[in-house]
Amino acid sequence: MIAKETTKEATKEQMLEVKDLFVEYQTDLETIKAVNGVSFSLAKGETLGLVGETGAGKTTTALALMRLLPERTGKIKQGDILINGSSVLKSSDKELMRLRGETIAMIFQDPMTSLNPVLTIGDQISESISLHNSQGRTAEQIQLRVDEVLNMVGIPSARKGEYPHQFSGGMRQRVVIAIAMACEPDLLIADEPTTALDVTIQAQVLMMIRNLRDRLGMSLIMITHDLGIVAQTCDNVAVMYAGELVEVGSARDIFKAAHHHPYTDGLFGSIPKLRERVKRLKPISGLMPDPTRLPTGCYFSPRCPLCADICRERKPDVFAKDGHKIKCHLRINADGYIKDEVRS
Ligand SMILES: Nc1ncnc2c1ncn2[C@@H]1O[C@H](COP(=O)(O)OP(=O)(O)O)[C@@H](O)[C@H]1O
Ligand SMILES: [Mg+2]
Repeated sequence: MIAKETTKEATKEQMLEVKDLFVEYQTDLETIKAVNGVSFSLAKGETLGLVGETGAGKTTTALALMRLLPERTGKIKQGDILINGSSVLKSSDKELMRLRGETIAMIFQDPMTSLNPVLTIGDQISESISLHNSQGRTAEQIQLRVDEVLNMVGIPSARKGEYPHQFSGGMRQRVVIAIAMACEPDLLIADEPTTALDVTIQAQVLMMIRNLRDRLGMSLIMITHDLGIVAQTCDNVAVMYAGELVEVGSARDIFKAAHHHPYTDGLFGSIPKLRERVKRLKPISGLMPDPTRLPTGCYFSPRCPLCADICRERKPDVFAKDGHKIKCHLRINADGYIKDEVRS
Protein backbone atom coordinates (compact mmCIF):
# COMPACT_ATOMS: atom_id res chain seq x y z
CA MET A 1 0.00 0.00 0.00
CA ILE A 2 2.72 2.45 1.01
CA ALA A 3 4.78 1.65 -2.10
CA LYS A 4 1.73 2.25 -4.25
CA GLU A 5 1.30 5.72 -2.89
CA THR A 6 4.82 6.83 -3.72
CA THR A 7 3.87 8.02 -7.19
CA LYS A 8 0.61 9.42 -8.41
CA GLU A 9 0.69 7.25 -11.53
CA ALA A 10 1.09 4.00 -9.64
CA THR A 11 -2.07 4.56 -7.62
CA LYS A 12 -4.20 4.83 -10.73
CA GLU A 13 -5.56 1.73 -12.38
CA GLN A 14 -4.14 1.78 -15.92
CA MET A 15 -6.68 0.29 -18.29
CA LEU A 16 -4.47 0.87 -21.33
CA GLU A 17 -0.71 0.87 -21.73
CA VAL A 18 0.92 1.44 -25.10
CA LYS A 19 4.64 0.65 -25.08
CA ASP A 20 7.04 1.79 -27.78
CA LEU A 21 4.59 1.08 -30.61
CA PHE A 22 5.78 1.08 -34.23
CA VAL A 23 3.31 0.63 -37.11
CA GLU A 24 4.11 0.48 -40.82
CA TYR A 25 2.06 0.23 -43.99
CA GLN A 26 3.78 -1.86 -46.63
CA THR A 27 2.74 -1.21 -50.21
CA ASP A 28 4.32 -2.77 -53.31
CA LEU A 29 6.52 0.25 -53.73
CA GLU A 30 7.26 1.61 -50.31
CA THR A 31 7.19 1.34 -46.54
CA ILE A 32 5.20 4.06 -44.78
CA LYS A 33 6.39 4.57 -41.22
CA ALA A 34 3.11 5.75 -39.71
CA VAL A 35 3.74 5.25 -35.97
CA ASN A 36 7.30 5.48 -34.69
CA GLY A 37 7.73 4.56 -31.04
CA VAL A 38 4.60 5.75 -29.26
CA SER A 39 4.17 5.16 -25.52
CA PHE A 40 1.33 6.34 -23.31
CA SER A 41 -1.08 5.04 -20.73
CA LEU A 42 -4.65 5.72 -19.80
CA ALA A 43 -6.32 5.21 -16.43
CA LYS A 44 -9.86 4.02 -15.92
CA GLY A 45 -12.28 6.92 -16.43
CA GLU A 46 -9.57 9.21 -17.79
CA THR A 47 -9.70 11.15 -21.08
CA LEU A 48 -6.65 11.53 -23.30
CA GLY A 49 -6.68 14.03 -26.14
CA LEU A 50 -4.63 12.99 -29.16
CA VAL A 51 -3.86 16.01 -31.32
CA GLY A 52 -1.77 16.71 -34.40
CA GLU A 53 -2.04 17.51 -38.08
CA THR A 54 -3.51 15.18 -40.68
CA GLY A 55 -1.12 12.33 -41.40
CA ALA A 56 0.50 12.40 -37.94
CA GLY A 57 -0.54 8.79 -37.24
CA LYS A 58 -3.48 9.34 -34.87
CA THR A 59 -5.98 7.07 -36.64
CA THR A 60 -3.30 4.43 -37.21
CA THR A 61 -2.53 4.40 -33.47
CA ALA A 62 -6.25 3.98 -32.70
CA LEU A 63 -6.68 1.19 -35.25
CA ALA A 64 -3.64 -0.61 -33.85
CA LEU A 65 -5.19 -0.60 -30.36
CA MET A 66 -8.17 -2.51 -31.73
CA ARG A 67 -6.07 -4.63 -34.11
CA LEU A 68 -8.07 -3.17 -36.97
CA LEU A 69 -5.21 -2.21 -39.27
CA PRO A 70 -5.69 -3.23 -42.92
CA GLU A 71 -4.82 -6.91 -42.88
CA ARG A 72 -2.44 -7.10 -45.82
CA THR A 73 -0.62 -3.80 -45.56
CA GLY A 74 -0.76 -2.59 -41.95
CA LYS A 75 1.74 -4.16 -39.54
CA ILE A 76 2.62 -3.61 -35.92
CA LYS A 77 6.40 -3.86 -36.16
CA GLN A 78 7.38 -3.41 -32.55
CA GLY A 79 6.03 -2.65 -29.10
CA ASP A 80 3.14 -3.85 -27.02
CA ILE A 81 -0.41 -2.83 -26.18
CA LEU A 82 -1.75 -3.90 -22.81
CA ILE A 83 -5.43 -3.66 -22.02
CA ASN A 84 -6.32 -4.33 -18.41
CA GLY A 85 -2.88 -5.94 -18.16
CA SER A 86 -3.08 -8.39 -21.08
CA SER A 87 -1.40 -7.99 -24.43
CA VAL A 88 -3.68 -7.24 -27.37
CA LEU A 89 -0.97 -8.51 -29.69
CA LYS A 90 -1.18 -12.00 -28.25
CA SER A 91 -5.00 -12.16 -28.26
CA SER A 92 -6.82 -15.02 -29.97
CA ASP A 93 -9.51 -14.28 -32.58
CA LYS A 94 -12.17 -14.92 -29.96
CA GLU A 95 -10.54 -12.50 -27.52
CA LEU A 96 -10.26 -9.89 -30.28
CA MET A 97 -13.98 -10.17 -30.97
CA ARG A 98 -14.65 -9.40 -27.34
CA LEU A 99 -12.07 -6.61 -27.36
CA ARG A 100 -13.84 -4.85 -30.22
CA GLY A 101 -17.15 -3.65 -28.92
CA GLU A 102 -17.10 -4.92 -25.36
CA THR A 103 -13.75 -3.52 -24.23
CA ILE A 104 -13.04 -0.83 -26.84
CA ALA A 105 -15.43 0.89 -29.22
CA MET A 106 -14.52 3.46 -31.84
CA ILE A 107 -16.43 6.33 -33.40
CA PHE A 108 -15.10 7.49 -36.75
CA GLN A 109 -15.16 10.95 -38.28
CA ASP A 110 -17.75 10.21 -40.93
CA PRO A 111 -20.81 8.38 -39.60
CA MET A 112 -21.71 7.10 -43.07
CA THR A 113 -18.56 4.98 -43.25
CA SER A 114 -19.54 3.08 -40.10
CA LEU A 115 -23.25 2.59 -40.86
CA ASN A 116 -24.67 0.00 -43.18
CA PRO A 117 -26.99 1.80 -45.64
CA VAL A 118 -29.24 -1.24 -46.22
CA LEU A 119 -29.97 -2.07 -42.56
CA THR A 120 -32.31 -0.18 -40.26
CA ILE A 121 -30.59 1.55 -37.38
CA GLY A 122 -32.43 -0.72 -34.93
CA ASP A 123 -31.03 -3.80 -36.67
CA GLN A 124 -27.52 -2.35 -36.60
CA ILE A 125 -27.70 -1.69 -32.88
CA SER A 126 -29.23 -5.07 -32.08
CA GLU A 127 -26.59 -6.78 -34.24
CA SER A 128 -23.88 -5.23 -32.12
CA ILE A 129 -25.65 -6.29 -28.91
CA SER A 130 -26.20 -9.87 -30.16
CA LEU A 131 -22.58 -10.17 -31.25
CA HIS A 132 -21.41 -9.48 -27.69
CA ASN A 133 -24.28 -11.08 -25.86
CA SER A 134 -22.34 -12.26 -22.82
CA GLN A 135 -25.38 -11.57 -20.65
CA GLY A 136 -27.47 -14.06 -22.65
CA ARG A 137 -30.24 -11.57 -23.49
CA THR A 138 -33.35 -12.92 -25.23
CA ALA A 139 -34.53 -11.33 -28.50
CA GLU A 140 -37.05 -9.33 -26.51
CA GLN A 141 -34.43 -8.13 -24.03
CA ILE A 142 -32.16 -7.13 -26.92
CA GLN A 143 -34.96 -4.95 -28.33
CA LEU A 144 -35.42 -3.32 -24.93
CA ARG A 145 -31.71 -2.60 -24.85
CA VAL A 146 -31.91 -1.09 -28.38
CA ASP A 147 -34.63 1.28 -27.10
CA GLU A 148 -32.53 2.09 -24.07
CA VAL A 149 -29.39 3.03 -26.02
CA LEU A 150 -31.41 5.03 -28.54
CA ASN A 151 -32.85 6.87 -25.59
CA MET A 152 -29.39 7.46 -24.23
CA VAL A 153 -28.40 9.33 -27.41
CA GLY A 154 -31.69 11.21 -27.68
CA ILE A 155 -33.28 9.34 -30.60
CA PRO A 156 -36.93 8.30 -30.15
CA SER A 157 -37.07 4.49 -30.25
CA ALA A 158 -40.00 4.79 -32.68
CA ARG A 159 -37.38 5.63 -35.32
CA LYS A 160 -35.49 2.36 -35.01
CA GLY A 161 -37.11 0.97 -38.17
CA GLU A 162 -35.60 3.77 -40.27
CA TYR A 163 -32.50 3.61 -42.47
CA PRO A 164 -29.35 5.76 -42.10
CA HIS A 165 -30.23 7.98 -45.10
CA GLN A 166 -33.42 9.06 -43.30
CA PHE A 167 -31.34 10.76 -40.60
CA SER A 168 -29.41 14.04 -40.66
CA GLY A 169 -25.61 14.03 -40.18
CA GLY A 170 -25.85 14.81 -36.48
CA MET A 171 -28.49 12.14 -35.89
CA ARG A 172 -26.41 9.58 -37.79
CA GLN A 173 -23.45 10.30 -35.56
CA ARG A 174 -25.78 9.72 -32.59
CA VAL A 175 -26.65 6.33 -34.09
CA VAL A 176 -22.95 5.51 -34.38
CA ILE A 177 -22.49 6.55 -30.74
CA ALA A 178 -25.47 4.37 -29.77
CA ILE A 179 -23.83 1.37 -31.49
CA ALA A 180 -20.55 2.15 -29.72
CA MET A 181 -22.32 2.46 -26.35
CA ALA A 182 -24.54 -0.60 -26.78
CA CYS A 183 -22.06 -2.89 -25.05
CA GLU A 184 -20.83 -0.33 -22.51
CA PRO A 185 -17.16 -0.42 -23.52
CA ASP A 186 -14.38 0.32 -21.02
CA LEU A 187 -12.70 2.57 -23.57
CA LEU A 188 -14.23 4.73 -26.26
CA ILE A 189 -12.00 6.05 -29.05
CA ALA A 190 -13.61 9.04 -30.74
CA ASP A 191 -11.70 9.83 -33.95
CA GLU A 192 -12.57 13.43 -34.83
CA PRO A 193 -16.20 12.60 -34.08
CA THR A 194 -17.63 16.02 -34.85
CA THR A 195 -15.49 17.22 -37.76
CA ALA A 196 -18.13 16.26 -40.34
CA LEU A 197 -21.00 17.90 -38.41
CA ASP A 198 -22.51 21.38 -38.37
CA VAL A 199 -21.10 23.63 -35.67
CA THR A 200 -24.38 23.77 -33.73
CA ILE A 201 -24.65 19.97 -33.72
CA GLN A 202 -21.00 19.51 -32.76
CA ALA A 203 -21.56 20.90 -29.26
CA GLN A 204 -24.53 18.61 -28.63
CA VAL A 205 -22.71 15.49 -29.79
CA LEU A 206 -19.67 16.36 -27.69
CA MET A 207 -21.77 16.97 -24.63
CA MET A 208 -23.41 13.63 -25.17
CA ILE A 209 -20.05 11.85 -25.40
CA ARG A 210 -18.89 13.57 -22.20
CA ASN A 211 -22.10 12.74 -20.34
CA LEU A 212 -21.98 9.08 -21.39
CA ARG A 213 -18.32 8.90 -20.40
CA ASP A 214 -19.12 10.26 -16.95
CA ARG A 215 -22.21 8.11 -16.48
CA LEU A 216 -20.53 4.88 -17.55
CA GLY A 217 -17.10 5.66 -16.07
CA MET A 218 -15.50 5.02 -19.46
CA SER A 219 -11.99 5.93 -20.47
CA LEU A 220 -11.90 8.09 -23.59
CA ILE A 221 -9.35 8.84 -26.29
CA MET A 222 -10.48 11.98 -28.06
CA ILE A 223 -8.74 12.53 -31.39
CA THR A 224 -9.32 16.13 -32.39
CA HIS A 225 -8.03 19.26 -34.06
CA ASP A 226 -10.11 21.52 -31.89
CA LEU A 227 -8.46 23.14 -28.90
CA GLY A 228 -11.81 23.99 -27.38
CA ILE A 229 -12.63 20.27 -27.28
CA VAL A 230 -9.26 19.50 -25.71
CA ALA A 231 -9.80 22.13 -23.02
CA GLN A 232 -13.35 21.02 -22.22
CA THR A 233 -12.91 17.28 -22.44
CA CYS A 234 -9.39 16.04 -21.75
CA ASP A 235 -7.46 15.26 -18.57
CA ASN A 236 -4.26 14.59 -20.47
CA VAL A 237 -3.05 15.49 -23.94
CA ALA A 238 -0.60 13.84 -26.33
CA VAL A 239 0.68 15.85 -29.28
CA MET A 240 1.59 13.70 -32.26
CA TYR A 241 3.94 14.54 -35.11
CA ALA A 242 5.25 12.21 -37.83
CA GLY A 243 4.28 9.14 -35.84
CA GLU A 244 5.83 10.25 -32.56
CA LEU A 245 4.45 11.85 -29.42
CA VAL A 246 6.44 15.05 -29.18
CA GLU A 247 4.72 16.33 -26.04
CA VAL A 248 2.56 14.65 -23.39
CA GLY A 249 1.12 16.19 -20.26
CA SER A 250 -1.97 17.14 -18.33
CA ALA A 251 -4.30 19.53 -20.14
CA ARG A 252 -3.02 22.15 -17.72
CA ASP A 253 0.61 21.46 -18.74
CA ILE A 254 -0.26 21.69 -22.41
CA PHE A 255 -2.09 25.00 -22.01
CA LYS A 256 -0.16 26.62 -19.19
CA ALA A 257 3.41 25.28 -18.84
CA ALA A 258 6.26 27.66 -19.56
CA HIS A 259 7.98 25.18 -21.89
CA HIS A 260 6.59 23.32 -24.88
CA HIS A 261 7.74 21.45 -27.92
CA PRO A 262 8.17 23.98 -30.77
CA TYR A 263 5.56 21.99 -32.72
CA THR A 264 3.00 22.41 -29.94
CA ASP A 265 3.83 26.12 -29.80
CA GLY A 266 3.24 26.32 -33.54
CA LEU A 267 0.00 24.35 -33.43
CA PHE A 268 -1.53 26.07 -30.47
CA GLY A 269 -0.28 29.53 -31.29
CA SER A 270 -0.92 31.87 -28.42
CA ILE A 271 -2.89 29.85 -25.88
CA PRO A 272 -4.51 32.73 -23.95
CA LYS A 273 -6.46 33.39 -27.12
CA LEU A 274 -8.34 30.18 -26.46
CA ARG A 275 -11.04 32.18 -24.75
CA GLU A 276 -11.36 34.32 -27.79
CA ARG A 277 -12.18 32.79 -31.10
CA VAL A 278 -8.91 31.06 -31.96
CA LYS A 279 -10.01 27.51 -31.34
CA ARG A 280 -8.58 25.89 -34.44
CA LEU A 281 -5.02 24.69 -34.59
CA LYS A 282 -2.82 27.21 -36.36
CA PRO A 283 -1.27 26.16 -39.65
CA ILE A 284 2.51 25.87 -39.48
CA SER A 285 4.49 26.61 -42.59
CA GLY A 286 5.98 23.60 -44.36
CA LEU A 287 4.82 20.01 -44.54
CA MET A 288 5.11 16.93 -42.39
CA PRO A 289 8.03 14.76 -43.56
CA ASP A 290 7.35 12.01 -46.08
CA PRO A 291 6.74 8.92 -43.90
CA THR A 292 8.66 6.78 -46.38
CA ARG A 293 11.76 8.95 -45.96
CA LEU A 294 11.87 10.30 -42.44
CA PRO A 295 14.74 12.72 -41.76
CA THR A 296 17.68 11.80 -39.54
CA GLY A 297 17.59 13.66 -36.27
CA CYS A 298 14.38 15.25 -35.04
CA TYR A 299 11.47 14.70 -37.42
CA PHE A 300 10.30 18.27 -36.84
CA SER A 301 13.73 19.80 -37.55
CA PRO A 302 13.04 20.72 -41.22
CA ARG A 303 10.12 22.93 -40.08
CA CYS A 304 11.34 23.99 -36.67
CA PRO A 305 11.98 27.71 -36.18
CA LEU A 306 14.47 26.88 -33.40
CA CYS A 307 16.35 24.15 -35.27
CA ALA A 308 20.04 23.80 -34.28
CA ASP A 309 22.76 21.54 -35.73
CA ILE A 310 22.15 18.78 -33.19
CA CYS A 311 18.47 18.67 -34.19
CA ARG A 312 19.38 17.64 -37.73
CA GLU A 313 21.94 15.11 -36.54
CA ARG A 314 20.51 13.22 -33.56
CA LYS A 315 17.11 12.05 -32.46
CA PRO A 316 16.06 13.96 -29.35
CA ASP A 317 15.54 12.39 -25.94
CA VAL A 318 12.41 12.95 -23.90
CA PHE A 319 12.72 15.48 -21.08
CA ALA A 320 10.19 15.35 -18.27
CA LYS A 321 9.08 17.35 -15.27
CA ASP A 322 6.26 16.11 -13.03
CA GLY A 323 4.79 13.99 -15.81
CA HIS A 324 5.04 16.70 -18.49
CA LYS A 325 7.17 15.23 -21.29
CA ILE A 326 8.79 17.04 -24.20
CA LYS A 327 10.81 15.32 -26.92
CA CYS A 328 13.17 18.08 -28.00
CA HIS A 329 16.93 18.69 -27.79
CA LEU A 330 16.35 22.30 -26.84
CA ARG A 331 14.44 21.48 -23.68
CA ILE A 332 17.55 19.93 -22.15
CA ASN A 333 17.52 20.73 -18.44
CA ALA A 334 15.10 23.60 -19.03
CA ASP A 335 13.70 24.67 -15.70
CA GLY A 336 13.87 21.29 -13.99
CA TYR A 337 13.12 19.08 -17.02
CA ILE A 338 15.30 15.99 -16.81
CA LYS A 339 15.94 13.18 -19.25
CA ASP A 340 13.14 10.63 -19.07
CA GLU A 341 15.05 7.35 -18.92
CA VAL A 342 11.97 5.18 -19.30
CA ARG A 343 10.65 6.62 -22.52
CA SER A 344 13.71 7.74 -24.45
N1 LIG B 1 -4.24 2.17 -45.28
C1 LIG B 1 -3.13 2.88 -45.45
N2 LIG B 1 -2.18 2.50 -46.35
C2 LIG B 1 -1.04 3.22 -46.52
N3 LIG B 1 -0.75 4.33 -45.83
C3 LIG B 1 -1.63 4.75 -44.92
C4 LIG B 1 -2.86 4.07 -44.67
N4 LIG B 1 -3.55 4.73 -43.71
C5 LIG B 1 -2.78 5.78 -43.36
N5 LIG B 1 -1.63 5.80 -44.09
C6 LIG B 1 -0.52 6.78 -43.97
O1 LIG B 1 -0.04 6.68 -42.63
C7 LIG B 1 0.27 7.99 -42.12
C8 LIG B 1 -0.55 8.22 -40.86
O2 LIG B 1 -1.92 8.32 -41.23
P1 LIG B 1 -3.13 8.45 -40.20
O3 LIG B 1 -2.91 7.47 -39.10
O4 LIG B 1 -4.38 8.34 -40.95
O5 LIG B 1 -2.92 9.93 -39.62
P2 LIG B 1 -3.94 10.92 -38.92
O6 LIG B 1 -5.10 10.11 -38.40
O7 LIG B 1 -3.15 11.56 -37.83
O8 LIG B 1 -4.37 11.90 -39.96
C9 LIG B 1 0.00 8.96 -43.26
O9 LIG B 1 1.21 9.19 -43.95
C10 LIG B 1 -0.98 8.21 -44.14
O10 LIG B 1 -0.90 8.63 -45.47
MG1 LIG C 1 -7.15 10.37 -38.82
